[in-house]
Amino acid sequence: LRVTILMGGWGAERAVSLVSAQGIIAACQTLGHHVTPLDMGETPADGTTLAARLTATTPDVIFNALHGTPGEDGVVQGLLDLLRIPYTHSGVTASAIAIDKQLTKAVLAPHGVRAPAGRIIESAGLHHADPLPRPYVLKPFNEGSSVGVAIVTDHSNHGSPIGRDVAGPWQHYATLLAETYIAGRELTVTVLGSGEKARALCVTELRPVSGFYDYDAKYTDGLTIHICPADIPASIAAAACEMSLTAHRVLGCRGVSRSDYRWDESRDDAGLYFIEINTQPGMTPLSLVPEQAKALGIDYPTLVQLLLDDALE
Ligand code: DAL
Ligand code: MG
Repeated sequence: LRVTILMGGWGAERAVSLVSAQGIIAACQTLGHHVTPLDMGETPADGTTLAARLTATTPDVIFNALHGTPGEDGVVQGLLDLLRIPYTHSGVTASAIAIDKQLTKAVLAPHGVRAPAGRIIESAGLHHADPLPRPYVLKPFNEGSSVGVAIVTDHSNHGSPIGRDVAGPWQHYATLLAETYIAGRELTVTVLGSGEKARALCVTELRPVSGFYDYDAKYTDGLTIHICPADIPASIAAAACEMSLTAHRVLGCRGVSRSDYRWDESRDDAGLYFIEINTQPGMTPLSLVPEQAKALGIDYPTLVQLLLDDALE
């Protein structure tokens, strides 16, 4: 196959995408495909459009290795649809909904997917008052890899209204999602496949050695212990897998998705909360989808080939 790997971009997760792409390129080479990497973030001086650059690679299929905006939000997917080039992962609608964490929760709520209460707020208002009772989470509603996430506790900022003298996401984003903080454990579930063939792989628990599962904890070897499969009651694992499959199906995700959870174990089944679904989950050496796939006997190149096959179906 002629595979063009679309990677990089100019969003906050550019570096993560480049690391994911390294693995995907190596896998495609192992699989014997003809590989062309295309870094969307490197704009040519002659002004050649992305559409022209993509078509010039004459791909049979594009492997979308982008994370975040644009690339995980439906924008690139729309371009590829117009160009009639098959591509891996979700299409326009699923991507556009899933990139918006608050919208996703609203779409999934009628389907029994429990999520923490939250609301979109103007960052400027944070100078005056807390948007929710503490503890709560502040985050961009449309970023990945925990970029810009802050947990505001009773101890944060010495009890003063936030945003005055402390660095935080409110400095970089005009609007933010404020969400009730769920104390407890961090879980994640991969769903592999499209339509009727989609299946949940397993549950992984992430235990950061300190603090929460933030950007550094995600991408620095040794800063988070991954327990795969998670040592949790079967009922919690089943509920997390079920919610992940529901999210994948309701949004119409394709190829692969990964849904993230917080579980307050003091409340048993009632303490499991869906946080978000990722339609372009990481494929780095520390990423969770390849790890879960491996636990189920699917090695990295096989995972890449499954995604290519899915795109071409
Ligand atoms: N946003 C990162 C890449 C992930 O979900 O794995
Ligand atoms: Mg995410």
